[in-house]
Amino acid sequence: MCGIAGYIGFRRADEVIISALKRLEYRGYDSWGIAVKHGNEIRLIKRVGAIGDAKAYNVADGNLGVGHTRWATHGKPSEINAHPHTDCSGKIAVVHNGIISNFQSLREELENRGHEFKSETDTEVIAHLIEENYGGDLKEAVEKAVSRLRGSYALVTLHAERDELVAARYKSPLVLGVGDEEWIIASDVPAILDYTSRVVYLEDGDLVVLRRNGFEIWSGGKKIERRAETIPWSIEDAEKGGYEHFMLKEIHETPRVIEDTLFEYLSEDIEIDVSFSAGISEVVFIACGTSYHASLIGKYLIEKLTGIPVRVEFASEFIYHQPPLHRALAIAITQSGETADTLEAMRIAKKLGARTLAIVNVLGSTATRIADHVLYTRAGPEISVAATKSFIAQLIVLYLIALKLSGMPGSDVNRLIDELRIMPELVRKILGREDEIRQTAERLATFENMMYIGRGIGVPIAMEGALKMKEISYIHAEAYPAGELKHGPFALLGKKTPVIASLIPDETYEIMLNNIKEVKARESIVVAVAEEDDREVEKYVDHVIRVPKTEHIFTAVTHSIALQLLAYYTARKRGCEIDKPRNLAKSVTVE
Ligand code: M6R
Repeated sequence: MCGIAGYIGFRRADEVIISALKRLEYRGYDSWGIAVKHGNEIRLIKRVGAIGDAKAYNVADGNLGVGHTRWATHGKPSEINAHPHTDCSGKIAVVHNGIISNFQSLREELENRGHEFKSETDTEVIAHLIEENYGGDLKEAVEKAVSRLRGSYALVTLHAERDELVAARYKSPLVLGVGDEEWIIASDVPAILDYTSRVVYLEDGDLVVLRRNGFEIWSGGKKIERRAETIPWSIEDAEKGGYEHFMLKEIHETPRVIEDTLFEYLSEDIEIDVSFSAGISEVVFIACGTSYHASLIGKYLIEKLTGIPVRVEFASEFIYHQPPLHRALAIAITQSGETADTLEAMRIAKKLGARTLAIVNVLGSTATRIADHVLYTRAGPEISVAATKSFIAQLIVLYLIALKLSGMPGSDVNRLIDELRIMPELVRKILGREDEIRQTAERLATFENMMYIGRGIGVPIAMEGALKMKEISYIHAEAYPAGELKHGPFALLGKKTPVIASLIPDETYEIMLNNIKEVKARESIVVAVAEEDDREVEKYVDHVIRVPKTEHIFTAVTHSIALQLLAYYTARKRGCEIDKPRNLAKSVTVE
């Protein structure tokens, strides 16, 4: 996710802002920029790549400014697309985090009224909207501009002729640092802590005016008070947002990630251009690790909802196997867009005549340059090696593709979309039960082997659950379709091997219960992931992790969140180095 810093006070704004942005570097970014008020002008620099040596930049001798680190969403990483963005007069500068979902229509409207745009970003419309509404009062202009925005934003703006900053927040974080005769506003606490530990957490709908003699917060047209709190964290704690590990922080970001990914592709209808599917006879997924498991779920969804035959290949195997492809759409799923095996498999798929689509989290990554078509997940930077929020974002894109391609009646599609829209709430409910999951996890932490089982969509859910467990806790965890246990793995079961069972509320439910009874007969401890009102399963298992009721296809989200937390708390109890597990890298750039 992008980073924001704005400053007004007695120090040089460029120095404060650069040091604040450097505190946000851990979040990842591809470009950055600063605007400083100098007399009645704005001095601006924008760069692609890392900030590097803060001393190398001398933007202007002023003490009011804004800055931004950008993680590209709309438009490639480039100086033009980097923030701050300015209006036609060059007097207004804006930095923004979030996604403006109606930016295209706003842009057309503004262009029709003569505004000229320089970048491909959604943010630039904000600068032009403020310009249109500016009549000498910046707060009023920002208020009017944000009333036109749909989506999410945290934004800070300055006008070259005003000695103030105006900021606004809706569904994207913004905190105000309150110093002695200086104020720093930022998207994240680490950017502030070098200057002050007193912060005000802004809330949705807040509008803030920062002047040299103080600040005002407005909400719903009224001036309001918000309490300043003293942050007890070190900078390192603050980078993790107060969470003990990035992995936990990232799991907690999932509701917002789902909202952002849905914003991107869902308005009245599913806004995914599926021209990539024209004339195809089959789909072949190519991916590695967690993205491979997302692909298996994609296969389940596409085959169930569209009838198109789907194969899933490990990218590393596809490279050598080079299977025959027949009018194929090759879908590469990759969070980083840089996994060497996936990139090579994409090149080979193209050579074999397939059309390629990449589902990627990192804008401008190599996969996006190889693929014929690209769909982005909106997970933001993921720092922990274990893929969590990015996996869920991949699933959301897959749901939307499968629903868009399905021949289902519109009313059925709409019902499923409505269910998807409430998914962030369901995930928040699971996060609210974290403590129960922690208790179960802590009972599992002494074992050295585990078996994950499921049926139907429960099989890839189990595979991903087992991968998370082994990757971060170093417990040997295998995953099997429950029906396969009797063909060999039963020999492994017993008191020393707990079994984690995903119970999906579909046609597999009854037979899964039978499988669980068979497992219990081998004396294994059984932990079931099941719906909150399932009173049957508790008769047969040792622990139940409850997840909210949802359509069976969406259990891939609810169950996976529960299993991510289970793995996290097991690893934590074992004292593992969760964010950087031994022998693993976040991006696997070698074959
Ligand atoms: O960036 P990618 O999605 O291509 O990465 C693929 C795998 O390396 C990755 O999913 C890996 O399995 C994760 N660390 C699992 O948590």
